[in-house]
Amino acid sequence: MSNENKSLSGLQRFSNKSIIVTGAGSGIGQATALRIASEGGAVIAVDLNEAGLQETVSAAADMSGSVRAYSASVAEEEQVKALIADVKDKEGKLDALINMAGILRAMPSTETSLAEFQQILNVNLIGTFLCCREAIPALLETKGCIVNAASTSAQFGHPYMAAYAASKGGVYALTRTLAWEYLKQGVRVNAVAPGGILTPMVLAQGERMASLDMDLFTHLNRPDGQFGAPEQVAGVIAMLASADGAHMTGEVVKVDGGVHN
Ligand SMILES: NC(=O)c1ccc[n+]([C@@H]2O[C@H](COP(=O)([O-])OP(=O)(O)OC[C@H]3O[C@@H](n4cnc5c(N)ncnc54)[C@H](O)[C@@H]3O)[C@@H](O)[C@H]2O)c1
Repeated sequence: MSNENKSLSGLQRFSNKSIIVTGAGSGIGQATALRIASEGGAVIAVDLNEAGLQETVSAAADMSGSVRAYSASVAEEEQVKALIADVKDKEGKLDALINMAGILRAMPSTETSLAEFQQILNVNLIGTFLCCREAIPALLETKGCIVNAASTSAQFGHPYMAAYAASKGGVYALTRTLAWEYLKQGVRVNAVAPGGILTPMVLAQGERMASLDMDLFTHLNRPDGQFGAPEQVAGVIAMLASADGAHMTGEVVKVDGGVHN
């Protein structure tokens, strides 16, 4: 976490807005929750990681908006239904859904079990679908918007990430489909496609990667070795979720430091 959220908070684009951020206990989701709270939003921060959620709540204490922790799995249908009901009940409305919850496990494709493949699809793709499906009726009432987490792995060959890349390809397709389906009703649906952002998810792959063929990763890294920060993705998500993104829907915006050009 950094104080970059505060330095940019001259903007107050989310005053009186109620916004769900999933995966808000870590990395990009956490930075996004804080960016939105710094701009006056009322954030419902969703994650399985309760310690991470508490960290997000504490970091937002002095901000103009607020963060409320909500522990749930995006992959559990009943829990997602309960989340949306809770937000409607307590906040009265929903202005945006930001789906950042996700999991990654880098491994050779031939060593990927069916259970592992399904688990990654369940969280990254089915979880995103469930949150969208349950939130859309509330978003229709506010002409709200959705921002999903795709990945550069969906479009470019990232080795050892078959399940992950497939799940993010699904998020890419889901985003574009929903954008068109709800265009006339005023609900915008966009995604970010981050690449090379230094977060606990990426750091956790370290040991695992050591046994893999690192030559295959050269095209995924910047020549200067620089990684991106979660706050740099959060700023783009905030733009897409705010009125500044009002003429954007169906976009999947790469935030990868220019690696995939
Ligand atoms: N870091 C990158 O370079 C990168 C690149 C492309 C895409 N992304 C995507 O961005 C999003 C955020 O990634 P990150 O790097 O910040 O990872 P992260 O691991 O730091 O954060 C992900 C959060 O999602 C939560 N989560 C996992 N399963 C969940 C579930 N079932 N229900 C609720 N919460 C759950 C985790 O507890 C964690 O707090 C993910 O969807 C990821 O796939 C990240």
